[in-house]
Amino acid sequence: MMIPVVDVDIKEKELQAVQDVVKSKYLVEGKNARSFEKKFSDFTGTKYVTTVVNGTCALHLSLAALDIGPKDEVITTPFTFIASSNSILFTGAIPVFVDVNSETYNIDPEKIEDNITKNTKAIMPVHIFGNPCDMGAVKDIAEDRNLVVIEDCAQAHGASIDGKHVGNFSEVSGYSFYGTKNIVGGEGGAVTTNNEELFEKIKSIKNHGRSPAGGYLHHLIGYNFRMTDMTAAIMNVQMDRAKEILSKRHYNGDRYRELLKDTEEIQLQKILPGHQHSDYIMAPLVQKECVSQEQIIEYLKSKNIGSRTIYSLLSYQQPCYHDLSKWPLSRVINYPDYSKVKCSVAENIAKGHFELPMVTSLTKENVEYIAETLKQYF
Ligand SMILES: Cc1ncc(COP(=O)(O)O)c(C=O)c1O
Repeated sequence: MMIPVVDVDIKEKELQAVQDVVKSKYLVEGKNARSFEKKFSDFTGTKYVTTVVNGTCALHLSLAALDIGPKDEVITTPFTFIASSNSILFTGAIPVFVDVNSETYNIDPEKIEDNITKNTKAIMPVHIFGNPCDMGAVKDIAEDRNLVVIEDCAQAHGASIDGKHVGNFSEVSGYSFYGTKNIVGGEGGAVTTNNEELFEKIKSIKNHGRSPAGGYLHHLIGYNFRMTDMTAAIMNVQMDRAKEILSKRHYNGDRYRELLKDTEEIQLQKILPGHQHSDYIMAPLVQKECVSQEQIIEYLKSKNIGSRTIYSLLSYQQPCYHDLSKWPLSRVINYPDYSKVKCSVAENIAKGHFELPMVTSLTKENVEYIAETLKQYF
């Protein structure tokens, strides 16, 4: 049987929680969402949390609440899921792609400065695969240049820097609870902030610009980004199980790092001192020029080990970015020619990484077998 790269950790308790919501007939965002928000606030140590339908909306809402809009530039990374930069496009702002660090795969703070223009308003670092970015360096630049920071924490539940959960190093942060994440809701997202005033605005924009009392008075133009209470019920139970789920993931991550640390043919994602990885994705880089990412993946699959590449095309390399003419805002906004963008380090990682199973159903023997099988290849 193939050891899977994706396997959702859902138990009877989640099923029961959904059934309870359905039976109650209160299907819209309600007490489960409130309960989840409280738990997620305790978990992340971020004061204010609101649920949203998914991580993409979480980022879009974060940007909208910060008044990021047409023609503003937002600096981000190209080595991520396309949602990161798409959320910038949705506001009318322009994603500016900055290359990543070859060891952490995260945005390279040293390269940010060169890309700041008079139109730059924000930086959106992404804790890719759950590896915390160098937030100290990003924050220094942001403070120095009067920019806001939005953390993309979609993959980073359980990741921290010096004991502080990610998402607390910026004005506002977005999380995803998509079905493969460490903590799942099927679809699902959350926006977190420590700024009360901003939080009120976030809650309003998420709910068609209403005041907290609800009703049909709309102060702002907003969206409907509310989640259902069925989703919230799953996430609520997942939060109760977060410790159990994350401890398995951290065990897997630590064990791989231990078993593979001397395998020179691959490079593991570097975790900076004091940083805790969320252990969402383990994706080493092939270091040997004669071996391709496809060859390793095929080899692993032949040994019943699930593997795949994730972002083998960077965001700016996607066909939709090469031809933005189908994006309506391109009628009024002059986008850069993304086909001319080049982030060589990220391109190298895109072509060299391969994912290893990190799911909670892995046994200790599975991890050892996977590491051993990988080593045998070289
Ligand atoms: C880094 C990153 N950002 C944003 C998102 C968007 O989240 P969602 O799929 O919940 O919309 C994802 C998720 O899948 C992601 O991995």
